[in-house]
Amino acid sequence: MIYFDNAATSWPKPPGVAQAMVHFIETVGANPGRAAHRQAIESGRIVYAAREAVAALFNAPDPLRVVFGANVTEALNLALRGLLHPGDHVVTSGMEHNAVMRPLRALERAGVALTVVACSPEGTIDPTDVAAALRPHTKMIVLNHASNVTGTLLPVAEVGRIARAHDALFLVDAAQTGGAYPVDVQASAIDLLAFTGHKSLYGPMGTGGLIVGERVPVEELEPLKRGGTGSRSEREEQPDFLPDRCESGTPNVVGLAGLVAGVRWVQERGVASIRAHEAALTQQLIDGLRAIHGVTVYGGLDARRQTATVSFNIEGMAPSEAGLRLDDEHSIMCRVGLHCAPAAHKTLGTFPTGTVRFGLGAMNTAADVEVAVKAVARLAEEVQ
Ligand code: ALA
Repeated sequence: MIYFDNAATSWPKPPGVAQAMVHFIETVGANPGRAAHRQAIESGRIVYAAREAVAALFNAPDPLRVVFGANVTEALNLALRGLLHPGDHVVTSGMEHNAVMRPLRALERAGVALTVVACSPEGTIDPTDVAAALRPHTKMIVLNHASNVTGTLLPVAEVGRIARAHDALFLVDAAQTGGAYPVDVQASAIDLLAFTGHKSLYGPMGTGGLIVGERVPVEELEPLKRGGTGSRSEREEQPDFLPDRCESGTPNVVGLAGLVAGVRWVQERGVASIRAHEAALTQQLIDGLRAIHGVTVYGGLDARRQTATVSFNIEGMAPSEAGLRLDDEHSIMCRVGLHCAPAAHKTLGTFPTGTVRFGLGAMNTAADVEVAVKAVARLAEEVQ
């Protein structure tokens, strides 16, 4: 079996991830930050270790400004709904996922002005177009670091400089890059970084979060939910400090224990080395698919400018049929359709049927790519 759905979630997880989760359940188990007994202290230590691991990976200076939540979608909702108000202006790109577009469209209906900057048919954005879209009251620029459809990397460092010069906040959706490509919140002037734990950080589902930079006024960040935090319990008002302001209720310590193990594995192997491995496989895949008659590959077709996610279509075969047959006849697991990113498909010209998507990961090999290219060639031969 070949697992090529890493853009949706990475699998298999590295050794140690499941064990860390079992260890927490069987030997720690307690609620962090709610009691002074040793099990609770150990639970709190695991949560803090997760904050430290994530902060170090993304070069964020303060682990206490890492806010955990269920996933990157929740983190994006927190940043967007927590900071934007009627009368504000926000700028985004034509390559975004619905985790950005749906909250933005709802905010637009509530009176937030929205500009969607068009991307090239390959999915890239020109930073000067972003600069030209800014208005005096632009509060935020929101950009995905890489498309979940084509893997295309967007120029976050350049846009970060533009945002900083305009005094706008810069929110980056790092769902597709965190752990697989270097992300440095300080070097790229990122004020808010939304990340997921279950993709290239190699943790379990149910983990993700938002890194809140120092330019973000914490008292203006409206939490998505309010409740018990284990701190300032004498007060009926939500705490005004991070992470407690935005983390109410018992956290997912089982998941965070696994996330610590996943991020440690990434750090031990090294983001640069994971990136080099994935880029080599990606170029092999792009070249192999492009050589097949009747196959169209989308994006920039250059592994140096994208992540390990490759979208393509076979002329004469619907993506849904290709996906079913890759699974049934070749045991290749991939994703087909719109990948929750209709805006990106409109940019690429693949709306509404979408594409077949191979999402490679650190665990894949050149042999996997070779088998997959042959499988696609066989399907293509049948319909040509
Ligand atoms: N957003 C994830 C994907 O692209 C789930 O598949």
